[in-house]
Amino acid sequence: MSPSLSGDDTSLVEPSADATGSLEDRPVLVLDFGGQYAHLIARRVRDARVYSELIPHDTPVAEIRARSPRGIILSGGPASVHEPGAPALDPELLRLSVPVLGICYGMQAMALALGGDVGRTGAAEFGKAPLRAQPDAVLFRDLPADQDCWMSHNDAVVSVPAGFRVTASSGNAPVAAMESAERGLYAVQFHPEVVHTPRGHDILKNFLEIGCAAPTTWTAAHVISEQIERIRRQVGSERVICGLSGGVDSAVAALLVHQAVGDQLTCILVDHGFLREGEAEQVVETFGGHLDVPLVHVRAQDRFLTLLAGVTDPERKRKIIGETFIRLFEEEAAKLDGVRFLVQGTLYSDVIESGAGTAATIKSHHNVGGLPDDMEMELVEPLRLLFKDEVRRVGEELGMSERMVWRQPFPGPGLAIRIIGEVTEERLAILRRADAVLQEEIRRAGLYGELWQSFAVLPAVKSVGVMGDARTYAYPIVLRAVTSDDAMTADWARLPYDLLERISSRIINEVVGVNRVVLDITSKPPGTIEWE
Ligand code: XMP
Repeated sequence: MSPSLSGDDTSLVEPSADATGSLEDRPVLVLDFGGQYAHLIARRVRDARVYSELIPHDTPVAEIRARSPRGIILSGGPASVHEPGAPALDPELLRLSVPVLGICYGMQAMALALGGDVGRTGAAEFGKAPLRAQPDAVLFRDLPADQDCWMSHNDAVVSVPAGFRVTASSGNAPVAAMESAERGLYAVQFHPEVVHTPRGHDILKNFLEIGCAAPTTWTAAHVISEQIERIRRQVGSERVICGLSGGVDSAVAALLVHQAVGDQLTCILVDHGFLREGEAEQVVETFGGHLDVPLVHVRAQDRFLTLLAGVTDPERKRKIIGETFIRLFEEEAAKLDGVRFLVQGTLYSDVIESGAGTAATIKSHHNVGGLPDDMEMELVEPLRLLFKDEVRRVGEELGMSERMVWRQPFPGPGLAIRIIGEVTEERLAILRRADAVLQEEIRRAGLYGELWQSFAVLPAVKSVGVMGDARTYAYPIVLRAVTSDDAMTADWARLPYDLLERISSRIINEVVGVNRVVLDITSKPPGTIEWE
């Protein structure tokens, strides 16, 4: 361990000799004690350009040692350290000579493991709390003594282990932070990883830069060069295929592979006909056009519509679409000779989630673009280490258009699950146009990037209206716009009235077949973001 304790050691922020090593060498490992913010810690560390991975809290110490981590962070967790069966911290971990930062539960587990005391302080602390910190402490170096932090705890450390000093206090947590800088051990009771701790980023950065002397090498350019190397090693001179969905993940994955092995890659766009206006054309233009990637465009709307005739149940729709998609992809792949590799846009969040696998299935999210398990091809997964925002940064670095990189999430089954009822060509045309008007106005208002998703839904019911002097009997369009961080929860967006008015009148005037526009003001929960 070489924690530099001098706050002016700016050499640490320069990419060092390590910059040429593998990015996965010497990670900062975040031990997940079950806290809701554990993923966020790994993301924040990466925001500070240090590679970080989330691992289960009970990963054997020998395995952790073998990774030679630059640092270890113990996450928060829902349990009380005093509960029987509460996740324990192996004290060996604190003797590896690797800097450790304990957060919330992680702080309490560290204190207990080293002989400190954890108790109920008498009052739980949830939400914003004023913090008085010692600016000479490693974590608070160069930060104001008085700052706000975000607390969420019942228990708290009441006496620090031998050799530690208290480095911050809040109203209900006299020991809000502690350190034993000689041993490289640091801890905070609050959550530096959430935005409600305004200086949280700096606190984590101090841990990484001063505490761990971690080089800041995790950049998009570095990820690209390393992935290109890796793909070349894996693929050699073999042929590769990649399914494009119109989304950013498959596009970035394909671009990386194309940079690595050029025309050994063929992309397949299975166009189910449920993409948004101009989307398939954009993919064809980008990949088949100026990037000159060999691209097979399978126009299959008729086949999908035939199979969906009369189908109204959302789960049946998803199943039919998912299965047909896979079948078509297989048919196209079979036409190409000697393909050994298949590109998938698996993200780090998928990797983490498949490890945990506890959440109940609310919708089957049958993922179009996802792939058959029984295809005898080896997977190439160039995004496997990346969070979504990192994929976007890589996309930008690779020169993808802003429109494509910053596109809002879109469900694999596309507009088919935004038509409530049977999917028909007429309804698709109406919905696609109404959705395009909505997107155009949202972009014009400068709100596109602030919304998690904004889209139109077409419930297949009709209502009476009057236009000119004539009676109309036509479909309504539902406007749905939500803010969210991760789609697990969402709030309906408070769009300005004048914007809503413009969208409504444009849709009714420009989209034949619509005579009414309504706004969905349901959050998630209890609603879901999509209607099906
Ligand atoms: P819900 O509607 O469950 O959606 O709140 C959460 C997020 O997932 C997207 N979504 C899907 N994505 N296939 C996908 O790839 C699907 O079948 C699917 N259904 C919902 C939705 O757009 C939102 O971002």
